[in-house]
Amino acid sequence: MIQVKNLVFQYPKNDGPTLKGLSFEIDKGEIFGFLGPSGAGKSTAQKVLYKIYYDYQGSVRVDGKSLHDWDKHYFEKIGVGFELPNHYLKLTGRENLDLFATFYPNGKKRNVDALFEMVDLESDIDKAVETYSKGMKMRLNFIRAIQHDPDILFFDEPTTGLDPVNAHKIKQHILNLKAKGKTIFVTTHSMETADQICDRVSFIVDGELVVTDTPKNLKSKHGKKAVKIELANEQSKEFPLKSLGENADFLSFIKQGEVRRIHTLEASLEEVFIQVTGKSLKS
Ligand SMILES: Nc1ncnc2c1ncn2[C@@H]1O[C@H](COP(=O)(O)OP(=O)(O)OP(=O)(O)O)[C@@H](O)[C@H]1O
Ligand SMILES: [Mg+2]
Repeated sequence: MIQVKNLVFQYPKNDGPTLKGLSFEIDKGEIFGFLGPSGAGKSTAQKVLYKIYYDYQGSVRVDGKSLHDWDKHYFEKIGVGFELPNHYLKLTGRENLDLFATFYPNGKKRNVDALFEMVDLESDIDKAVETYSKGMKMRLNFIRAIQHDPDILFFDEPTTGLDPVNAHKIKQHILNLKAKGKTIFVTTHSMETADQICDRVSFIVDGELVVTDTPKNLKSKHGKKAVKIELANEQSKEFPLKSLGENADFLSFIKQGEVRRIHTLEASLEEVFIQVTGKSLKS
């Protein structure tokens, strides 16, 4: 669906490039994530992909066609949840959505009330957006991105500024969009979000991709292939996963007392990020 090869991009006033040769592919129906610290180039890469910045080097192809060859129909094909919600503050939520809908004359007829209900904004639909909180603006941003039912969705930090309940709902909506066959590219510096929703992630640091893989592979490759057993009597012991069922020590250990906890010692995505890149996600 999306193929990016050796993408280099430099802001005109900067001394060097911000994106230093990115290569990645996103399959149809996949949720792909860029995970990296602030300033890594996540938003810049997305802006190239949604045709805000034209002057890049390398190749970006969407549906087999170079981004340079796509005309305005490209904007009907994509939906963009910008990093910073840019709404018309004096207009109501509904007016904001209606205004953006005029950009998509061929878009499918959408049910505005259902969209506002999706993100629990149904009672705020006719209020001026200047009265919305940050999280409410983010939720409006989300439904604005999906309202014309595009095939490809870009979400730049979709859960930033949301409380855990709303963040959970947005993640669930993103998974539902995937279930409908949408292709989704998210950026985040939340390893939790990446872990929960992404089929594959790329770690991006200083404009370069360090590794691309599924969260599951990344965690199991970099963690210990072992299980830790904790008994109610405070005793705990680690055993290798290999041939666990035939491991006599393991079998006798779990019979020694009541088992309180069993957990595999795979690394968290954040630990993998630090191991692989030598950087913290919080920088
Ligand atoms: N308009 C601009 N002009 C010049 N430099 C810019 C511009 N926008 C971003 N940059 C620089 O490009 C680099 C990457 O910025 P970008 O916004 O892509 O990072 P990011 O990974 O999205 O970070 P964050 O997690 O904070 O959103 C930063 O060093 C930033 O200062
Ligand atoms: Mg950003």
